Amino acid sequence: MEKTQFVENISESTLVDSLFLIKRADLRSKRGEQFAHLTLADRTGVIEAKFHGEKAEEIARIIQVGRVYKISGKGRINQNGEIHVFSDSLETAKDIFAGPVTLKPGQETAFIYTPADLNANALEIQKIIGTIKNGDLKLFVACCLDGRFYGCPAAIRRHHEYTGGLCEHSLETVKIALSLVDIIPRTDINRDMVIAGAVLHDIGKIFCFDKVGYGYVPNDTYNLIEHITMGIMYIDEYKNLISDDQLLQLRHIIQSHHGSYGDVIPLTVEAWLIHEADSGSSLLRSVVDDLAETPTGQKKKGLRSEKFLWHAV
Ligand SMILES: [Fe+2]
Ligand SMILES: [Fe+2]
Repeated sequence: MEKTQFVENISESTLVDSLFLIKRADLRSKRGEQFAHLTLADRTGVIEAKFHGEKAEEIARIIQVGRVYKISGKGRINQNGEIHVFSDSLETAKDIFAGPVTLKPGQETAFIYTPADLNANALEIQKIIGTIKNGDLKLFVACCLDGRFYGCPAAIRRHHEYTGGLCEHSLETVKIALSLVDIIPRTDINRDMVIAGAVLHDIGKIFCFDKVGYGYVPNDTYNLIEHITMGIMYIDEYKNLISDDQLLQLRHIIQSHHGSYGDVIPLTVEAWLIHEADSGSSLLRSVVDDLAETPTGQKKKGLRSEKFLWHAV
């Protein structure tokens, strides 16, 4: 089956019948009725889908995240103005029970959603790393980054939750941090440490997601350990390249980058700076992406930011 219908073309009453990548799948219930809740994706975007009826539980149980399925239903807008795909038809369930679709070579690009420019972001972050003056630290940061960093998402739901999201978020964080260094007078901030810390603050996320099929899914490390501990453990692999003082500062930046919400509160100006820059990047991305899904003139609570937002007229 060829992919002819895309997420961006689905609106109220659209008859949906096409192939979609399954990003997430779970069983939910509302007013006592169970339904399978799926997140569908293709290269044009992401859309939620709800499957009601007696097969809902089975759909949620057997569907394989990261694979492509034939999905049918109808576009529906709920009271919050959000579009989703709805179905309670046995035909839809039959298509899903038939299993994932095998794609032809090259066809997968139609299903990978990312608004990020992966190549441009990779080049830009490498250019910034190239400005680190301390040669040991520059080599250390370069060694810590590999293909996983450039492809991995930064999250599953919150912010930068798409292929290349980790690199894009890290790039935004380092750019915000450096702009603050330039703006605030009378400081003695270690610019090299700001770059290294901002680029590596979330590096542990490369261990938190597995590439499954054509997407990323959170793994046991995500659930049991999380990215801060993994990041601190990971940078130890290259600790011989830098001094003990540099390693300690970097460990502290990674450990404290969640600011007042973390187990360790930042104690250095570089650590506070990276915490603020990280918050700026993650919050603004989630607010902007939530507002893109909010109809003009409406107020609603964003799924990513979990904040009430109003889409200005
Ligand atoms: Fe983080
Ligand atoms: Fe972050």
